[in-house]
Order: sequence, then C-alpha cells, then structure tokens
Amino acid sequence: MRKKIVAGNWKMNTTLAEGIELAKEVNEKVKAAAPAGVKVIVGTPFIHLADVNRLATDIEVAAENCAAEAKGAYTGEVSAAMVKSTGCKYVILGHSERRAYYGETNEILVKKVALALENELDVIFCIGEVLEEREAGKHFDVVKKDIVEGLFNLTAEQFGHIVLAYEPVWAIGTGKTATSEQAEEMHKFIRSVVAEKYGEQVADDTTILYGGSCNAKNADELFSMPNVDGGLIGGASLKADDFMTIITARNNH
Ligand code: PGA
Repeated sequence: MRKKIVAGNWKMNTTLAEGIELAKEVNEKVKAAAPAGVKVIVGTPFIHLADVNRLATDIEVAAENCAAEAKGAYTGEVSAAMVKSTGCKYVILGHSERRAYYGETNEILVKKVALALENELDVIFCIGEVLEEREAGKHFDVVKKDIVEGLFNLTAEQFGHIVLAYEPVWAIGTGKTATSEQAEEMHKFIRSVVAEKYGEQVADDTTILYGGSCNAKNADELFSMPNVDGGLIGGASLKADDFMTIITARNNH
C-alpha cells in the first residue's frame, strides 16, 4: 500500500550532540501530535544513527547513503549491514548531491540498492533533472532513464521496498520550489513509468515523495496533489517546528 511519508534529510549538518537534541525534539513532537496516517523518518549522518535509533520511539531513521560493496578493504565506507545494525529501516540512495559531487552513477546505485535490500533496508531512491534539462524539455526522459537504469533490474517484490523521491535539482536548497502542478505532472509520469514495467497495482502502491525547497509554507499545497505522497525535506527538517508543520500538513490531506 502507498504510504504517506515525511522524511528529513539532514545532509552534513549537526554535531552528534545537536543531532540527538534535534531527533529528541522531533520524536517528542510526533509522539504528542500522533499524526496517525504519516510515517515520519529522519535521515541523519552515519555517526548519529545508533544514538538516534535508540531514542526513536515514534519516528524511523534513515542513513543518507551506504557503500556499494558488502564489506572489506574500503577505508572510510559504511556498509548497508552496518547501517542496518544501528536499527535503521531506511537508506536514502542516489541523492543528486551524491550523483553530482561523488560521481554516483546508476551502475553504482544498482549495487547499493541490491545491498540495501539484502540487508532489509527500504530505499528512498532520488531522481530529478537539472535546470538545463528542464529548459530543454528533457526532464521526463532524464527521470525515466534514472528509474529504468537504477531500479528496473528489481523484481516486483523487491520494488515494493522502494520509495521514490522526485527532487528537481534546481529546487534543492534554492528556495525555488516546483509548483504543485509541476510536481503532480512529474509524479503522475513516474507512476506511469512504474506501471509500464510492474503493472498498475504496483504503480498505485508506490510511494512517491517530492523534494526541493519543500517547507512549512508550501507543503500543504504540494500534498494536496493526488500523486504527491509526501516529502523529502532538507533545510526545513533541521528545525523541529517547521518539520512538524510539514508532517501536520501531510496528515491533514
Ligand atoms: P531542501 O533539500 O529541502 O533543502 O531543498 C531537499 C533534499 O535535498 O533532499
């Protein structure tokens, strides 16, 4: 079944002490508000995962990445099994910052997704076009290519453990959000791409999040769209009050 999800992506922000404080605040607010229909996830830096998982009673925890190899001589890398051992249920993969700054290709992502699923982590898989691609009218092709190359080797059963996050790169951290019509148009398209491969039922059950300057002010409008199932929230997830407003907006629709 399709889920309503609001996931935070803290990126490379907060020291351990700050992260624990923020996670506690979010957890308490979610506990108090009890937004019954929404799954709340916080994506934190690796070193925070174990501590945040220990305190998380009303929220889930995601890593922001994992290694493309299972184990061994890969200095500085963190494996999917290690992420799982901290108590995480989710891992964010293919974020545009990983693709752009760390050379993450769909080929690498296929390996990461496989390891995540082997370790029983659900994957929040990010896709989205850059501004030049949108201006050239190539945004649908670009998004489809990343889905096909990154995910369509999976069985339908495995695909059930994928949450898609459409994040137009031009909207990330820029304060320039996609309009709700642009988001809806792309989410509908993404669902049709999934349907071509796995059928209508799987497509209907797939959770598709919007990300890119989604904030306390525009979340309500974005979540009113029938194919926008929730959000992947960067900057606004670092402020517990704003994040809670977004969660409430999701719960209200
Ligand atoms: P933003 O980031 O909300 O700060 O634009 C979203 C993301 O990169 O996941």
